[in-house]
Amino acid sequence: MDEILAGAAVPADGDLDTSLRPERLDEFVGQRRVKEQLALVLEGARGRGSAADHLLFSGPPGLGKTSLATIVASEMDADLRTTSGPALERPGDLAAILTNLEDGDVLFVDEIHRLPRAVEEVLYPAMEDFALDIVVGKGPGARAIRLPLPQFTLVGATTRTGLVTGPLRDRFGFAARLDFYDREELVGILQRSATLLDVRLDPGGAEEVAQRSRGTPRVANRLLKRVRDYAEVRADGVVTPEVAGAALELFEVDAAGLDKVDRWVLSTLCEQFSGGPVGLSTLAVAVGEEPDTVEDTVEPFLIQRGLLARTPRGRVATAAGFAHLDLAPPTSASAPSLLDALDDDTDEAGGT
Ligand SMILES: Nc1ncnc2c1ncn2[C@@H]1O[C@H](COP(=O)(O)OP(=O)(O)O)[C@@H](O)[C@H]1O
Ligand SMILES: [Mg+2]
Repeated sequence: MDEILAGAAVPADGDLDTSLRPERLDEFVGQRRVKEQLALVLEGARGRGSAADHLLFSGPPGLGKTSLATIVASEMDADLRTTSGPALERPGDLAAILTNLEDGDVLFVDEIHRLPRAVEEVLYPAMEDFALDIVVGKGPGARAIRLPLPQFTLVGATTRTGLVTGPLRDRFGFAARLDFYDREELVGILQRSATLLDVRLDPGGAEEVAQRSRGTPRVANRLLKRVRDYAEVRADGVVTPEVAGAALELFEVDAAGLDKVDRWVLSTLCEQFSGGPVGLSTLAVAVGEEPDTVEDTVEPFLIQRGLLARTPRGRVATAAGFAHLDLAPPTSASAPSLLDALDDDTDEAGGT
């Protein structure tokens, strides 16, 4: 981070995540409860001189899961190894990583809900007993031997807690769900990033960007860069509320922070499907996105803002959803969907 502070290296957009990633727990803004709990878990382990318990972080993209994995490693003064569910195709892939670990290492498995079943089964004894069970030989002569593994900490991240199997979830000593950030927290993140990137962000400008960041640090940082471009090219370089507002309008982020895709999903639901209920896959096809993208990235924010709801019969637009698009909600006779929305309390459920 030092060279960035000195203004020497201004990273390209692609490196933004890494360059702005908090490295210590006290640089991690917001999520107070999770931070406090995690600090305790890590301090306890440090005190005992052992590896920390296995940790699972869940929540929509861009809320800080990978950052926390990095932080765990640096707070424990440990090496971080990174892999992901889809990258581990065969049990041997995981075994190779596990046998190369050293005591105290942190193994980060991103998208852990996408581990193939056979690979996941290798993980169970590894997490529980720090052991690797392998079968040598074939046929009647085959026997299972158990290899000891170093004491490591597994950090898993997932956008979908509902897809993490029970046996896997049970093997984590601590699981935390990250929530969308409030405006004040996003302002804190933006101010930190502005300092690191040498952006002249005035307090009102920070408020304006925070307001439109979808409650998501990654989005906040991305918007900050776009707003900075605008400030430098079309104004005097300072990000004021006016500059931020104009820039975000240009980049089609609306006042509530919905981007083009968010609005497209919502308006398709309201207009093409009369507010629903409609199944996830039908909705995804209609907007030309993958169901996973709609479910992981778009929906959580719309749900959090009360614009969309998941019901057992499918997705529905709420009255607030219609209002956001300046549309009149269908009359109640033609819209049982709005009633469904009222008694919706499903989280991962809601069908497809
Ligand atoms: N709590 C936080 N405080 C400061 N910056 C954060 C925080 N959470 C996320 N960020 C920023 O957002 C970026 C994306 O976070 P990341 O950890 O990659 O999210 P995820 O892995 O959940 O998708 C990080 O590089 C970092 O710059
Ligand atoms: Mg990540």
